[in-house]
Amino acid sequence: MSAPAPAPPHAAAPTATGPSRLFSPARLGPLLLANRIVVAPMCQYSCEEGLAGDWHLMHIGQLALSGAGLFILEATAVTREGRITPGCLGLWNDEHEAALGRVLGVVRRHSEMPVGIQLAHAGRKGSSEVPWRGGMLIPPDPASLGGWVPVAPSALPHAEGEAAPATLDEAGLARIRQGFADAARRAHRIGIAAIELHSAHGYLLHQFLSPVSNRRIDRYGGSLANRMRFPLEVFEAVREAVPASVPVGVRLSATDWLEHLGTPSWDLEQSIAYAHALRERGVSFLHVSSGGISAQQKIPLGPGYQVHLAERLKRETGLPTIAVGLITEPEQAEAIVAEGRADFVALARALLFNPHWPWAAALKLGAQVNVPAQYWRAAPRGAAGLFGQAKIGMR
Ligand SMILES: Cc1cc2nc3c(=O)[nH]c(=O)nc-3n(C[C@H](O)[C@H](O)[C@H](O)COP(=O)(O)O)c2cc1C
Repeated sequence: MSAPAPAPPHAAAPTATGPSRLFSPARLGPLLLANRIVVAPMCQYSCEEGLAGDWHLMHIGQLALSGAGLFILEATAVTREGRITPGCLGLWNDEHEAALGRVLGVVRRHSEMPVGIQLAHAGRKGSSEVPWRGGMLIPPDPASLGGWVPVAPSALPHAEGEAAPATLDEAGLARIRQGFADAARRAHRIGIAAIELHSAHGYLLHQFLSPVSNRRIDRYGGSLANRMRFPLEVFEAVREAVPASVPVGVRLSATDWLEHLGTPSWDLEQSIAYAHALRERGVSFLHVSSGGISAQQKIPLGPGYQVHLAERLKRETGLPTIAVGLITEPEQAEAIVAEGRADFVALARALLFNPHWPWAAALKLGAQVNVPAQYWRAAPRGAAGLFGQAKIGMR
């Protein structure tokens, strides 16, 4: 009798520490996710006039087969001037709704992964070139490049030497607030499962929060309560626009990383106050990022460099949190969730690099992941349970 073949290395891993927490189901507000891995929102800069097209079908399609628990669509502009670049996705009219609805209709025929959306307004960071063309401010004039005059809380440019944005008046604020609510309704009509407001990375809502970009002297500037007013109004408008079955969360920059300047900026303590105010208004989750308001930021980049911010916000508010930022290894992601530092982890670049990252993570952690039947034969030798009850027969 021949000796049994040695077990492949991954077969031993699973049960040493009990079942994986990363791959356990969890609630995001009213939504039940199959696991705690989230595809982070990622701009694709691939639209004309904000319309989703075939690139989106390919991009969303491939990541919808990744086995993650939730896909969050890229920053999606709620008004035309709220795009970051001329290539950004939009949802400011019914044509956008139809175009994105077509893409999601195809994706849903082949994937059960819930798809959320990040609703956004770029504020003074609008009218930028797409990153692979340098990402600089496009002046409004040359029609060929498609630039426009960006709007902001105050007439302060994002970078020195740039033209100043136009200051928003009350009518402008009302129009943008309405834009967020209308986009949320459109998103709901095409079956979007969760809404995330982009209140991070130096875009419009963050520009209101941070004293770096907000120098208003009306009720939207000055004190913390005043700086939070517009983002909170937008949250309320969006929360009211969609039924309670749709979770509405917020991605925030928990700090501007500008403490070294010794001048007023946005920091973790203010973020905690903001999170409490959002909680009172029914926020379903926080997605904790950082930075983006100023080129003078000093970010201590390293593995999981933002996790401590998510951890603190979770501890202070009890809200479900998503940690993000240089989470690249399955064991690292597992530890963040298992130690209760965050409820979910979001990945961006690691998932672009390997859209089947969750499959590899499940293999390493001895867990199970959903993959389409067409791919079941991919299960490595000795990992029969990786794809759940998958069974393959041929003659
Ligand atoms: C191609 C690309 C596009 C991105 N677009 C967005 C976006 O639309 N909205 C957003 O909040 N963050 C965006 N980000 C930031 C990511 O969501 C994420 O927070 C960041 O990349 C850190 O996570 P990572 O280390 O896993 O890449 C983008 C990142 C990349 C790489």
